[in-house]
Amino acid sequence: MSEYTATALARANIALAKYWGKSDVALNLPAVPSISITLEPMRTETTVRFAASLQQDALVLNGKPADEKALKRASKVLDQVRAIAKLDLKARVESANNFPTASGLASSASGFAALVAASWSAAGMARDNERWSALSRQASASAARSIYGGFVELPKGIPGDATLSAKPIAPPAHWDVRIVVAVANEGAKDVGSTEGMTLSERTSPYYRAWVDCSDALAAEVRAGILARDLVKVGEAMEQSTLAMHACMMASRPGLIYLQPATLAALATVKRLRKEGVQVYATMDAGPHVKALCHADDAERVAKALADTQLVLRTLTAHPGPDLEIRK
Ligand code: PMV
Repeated sequence: MSEYTATALARANIALAKYWGKSDVALNLPAVPSISITLEPMRTETTVRFAASLQQDALVLNGKPADEKALKRASKVLDQVRAIAKLDLKARVESANNFPTASGLASSASGFAALVAASWSAAGMARDNERWSALSRQASASAARSIYGGFVELPKGIPGDATLSAKPIAPPAHWDVRIVVAVANEGAKDVGSTEGMTLSERTSPYYRAWVDCSDALAAEVRAGILARDLVKVGEAMEQSTLAMHACMMASRPGLIYLQPATLAALATVKRLRKEGVQVYATMDAGPHVKALCHADDAERVAKALADTQLVLRTLTAHPGPDLEIRK
């Protein structure tokens, strides 16, 4: 047979304890532990087809041929899978997201997780969550977390440890929370996370302080998840988020991902809290605000955020399942 194909369905994830900074750039190991929720229904579906008829790798993203940079990153993943599978065929990759790409909505996380799992499966190898997670992590550390459903931790990496993978903390049914995303704009971000992290490490006077506070914040988030304590998780998540953004902003030149819509949405979250709703906010390397709340409050939170000036729209997600393969 000269054609092998498989499809993977991965969900985006949102970090409650944030990752920013690398302890080993070559192996792409995080300098801090991070903890996330896997988000349903924010999905990437990726089909990989290895075929003897292909002269080179090709990548189609959301229906359009991807640029050189994206193709190179995908080929790097494919090369690793081909080396493990001892497969010498080029691949055609088709990948589509049902949420905005590359704007701080974690499309690289679900994208790389789906690419690793689809290419691995297309190459005829059996499911291996740990290896999928470690391979995904090398492409984009947050992607390591999208292999698993529910609540997931990626420990910080010890330089040289190529095997670091994420680990599930609790399954999706453990805690019925919601993440309401307030979409602030639909464009791609200016400075990607790898470039941004390197800049912060090199130039931000707050980088050390950020790394130093990350273990305690992750421990608080982990304990809060296990105890289903939204206030505990929410307070630690907001501090982790704002400490990360303070570190980003103090880089040279400053990395400012937050926009007017972000601050407006944050004010709405604060007002809702004053009104007695347990709701907390987080932002990644982009302007969107993601609000964590109980399932019963999600409608009220979504309405308040949708009615906030400059917020374009909202989408609501809940803890999603493990990555799925469709042969
Ligand atoms: O995995 P990367 O390189 O896309 O970095 C993700 C960094 C943040 O989204 C800002 C935080 C996180 O933990 O997801």
